[in-house]
Amino acid sequence: AKTHYHGFVVQATKVTRLCKTRNSITVNGQFPGPTLEVNNGDSLVIKVINKAKYNVTIHWHGVRQIRTAWADGPEFITQCPIRPGQSYTYKFTISGQEGTLWWHAHSSWLRATVYGAIVIHPKQGDSYPFPKPNRDSVIMLGEWWNANPIDVINEARRTGGAPNVSDAYTINGQPGDLYNCSSKDTIKVPMSSGETNLVRVINAALNQQLFFKIANHKFTVVGADASYVKPFTTSVLMLGPGQTTDVLIKGDQTPGRYYMAARAYASAQGAPFDNTTTTAILEYTTAKSNSSKPVMPTLPPFNDTNTATAFTTSFRSPGKTLVPKTVDENLFITAGLGINKCPPKAKASTCQAPNNTRFTASMNNVSFVLPSNFSLLQAHHNGIPGVFTTDFPAKPPVTFDYTGNVSRSLWQPTRGTKVYKLKYGDKVQVVLQGTSIFTAENHPIHLHGYDFYVVAEGFGNFNPKTDTSKFNLVDPPLRNTVSLPVNGWAVIRFVADNPGTWIMHCHLDVHIGWGLAMVFVVDNGVGLMESLQQPPKDLPRC
Ligand code: C2O
Repeated sequence: AKTHYHGFVVQATKVTRLCKTRNSITVNGQFPGPTLEVNNGDSLVIKVINKAKYNVTIHWHGVRQIRTAWADGPEFITQCPIRPGQSYTYKFTISGQEGTLWWHAHSSWLRATVYGAIVIHPKQGDSYPFPKPNRDSVIMLGEWWNANPIDVINEARRTGGAPNVSDAYTINGQPGDLYNCSSKDTIKVPMSSGETNLVRVINAALNQQLFFKIANHKFTVVGADASYVKPFTTSVLMLGPGQTTDVLIKGDQTPGRYYMAARAYASAQGAPFDNTTTTAILEYTTAKSNSSKPVMPTLPPFNDTNTATAFTTSFRSPGKTLVPKTVDENLFITAGLGINKCPPKAKASTCQAPNNTRFTASMNNVSFVLPSNFSLLQAHHNGIPGVFTTDFPAKPPVTFDYTGNVSRSLWQPTRGTKVYKLKYGDKVQVVLQGTSIFTAENHPIHLHGYDFYVVAEGFGNFNPKTDTSKFNLVDPPLRNTVSLPVNGWAVIRFVADNPGTWIMHCHLDVHIGWGLAMVFVVDNGVGLMESLQQPPKDLPRC
């Protein structure tokens, strides 16, 4: 196995999109940032130098970080932010994961432009569980704002309202030729007749689930979130922010040009979103001319929950899995939005959510608040009191009809830095229950430090009497982000075998900012082998 050394300079860079130029925060002046290419088993040493005017951290999304929680990246969870002018070196090993992950800033809304792919090839000497592809390409779906995204979120924080939606969706940083001033920069992906190509699709958008399609071409899905899956074919993908899907596509169509396109899957009732389409072009190198108008795929309508569900429930693990058959910890966690009454003397301009309120979000009615003096990991590791409390509830404080007409009194979560403690080795089940408080939405729920099995999902309220019969304890898929269905539930299982402080949150950045998060604290195991490593010398201070 190899060790790969990289330098990431976080800096302001002029970027032009949609006819406008603005300073964007980038890594090494690149947008999207550099792709990290490794083999399973390799190690990475990445020195991040912050030359921007904002605090920053980098998260290696989906990398398990076994015993290396110090390198996970979410600010105030596993480290204090890297201040302007400072640096921090992330050191970790890719172990047991193959496929596609990605990295992104985990500080305010910086990840709008600070992100890139992590391509993980099979272990040296191993091969894919499918014929070796002729080409390997990365498709990163994203969102672009004409305004500085940090200003957008700061403005929403000030007003208590919802932040402005983005001005374009993007593929590899480019809106594509259906948007103004974007044609000449449209991304082109080569294909030759007879080839089979591996395409790694990543949803790096901040706040939008996306459908993805290529005209006339079918996908064979072979992986997701850096785990292989039992191959299945589909003509459309749906990815929540944070998720990755690896597909094979065949050059079996008339040589020519075909649009690859993505647009919103907006399950929310009444929440604003952008209904435009981003495109790239699949271009046959074997075509006679490459000036023909590309063929456009028909994307599902934005509210097509049936298509989204048919896709998300098609995933299976390829072989026998290690899914826990019994559980030591069984949690029931609601996830949803809410609105808080305005504080008594607040100015009207700071209460711009409906009926003079402020938007909020919660898990089990707790709006998660980041600490500010220490990271949770430092506080846990060094026994610093007063940074967090261990009273995150194992079930909602009151039982109600989660997906029905919810009483207004339940819209007001409490705030706190509450964690849930797990013993090393615990077999954990979490029933995630979406709520229709204020508005029902899909929530892409992401857990740091683990992959989990998605053993079941469904609509309505989870019913422990009848829904347990739907559990797949044979070949459930392994993921790091699950699309919690709109007005529905999902059940995940994992073994708490990685010590540290691990945040579980909605990967819509607008929701994490409102508090849709909680943290698991996992104790050390008995021996040195199970324990968390000592903190690195250059760990940033708050
Ligand atoms: Cu991809 Cu906590 O994030």
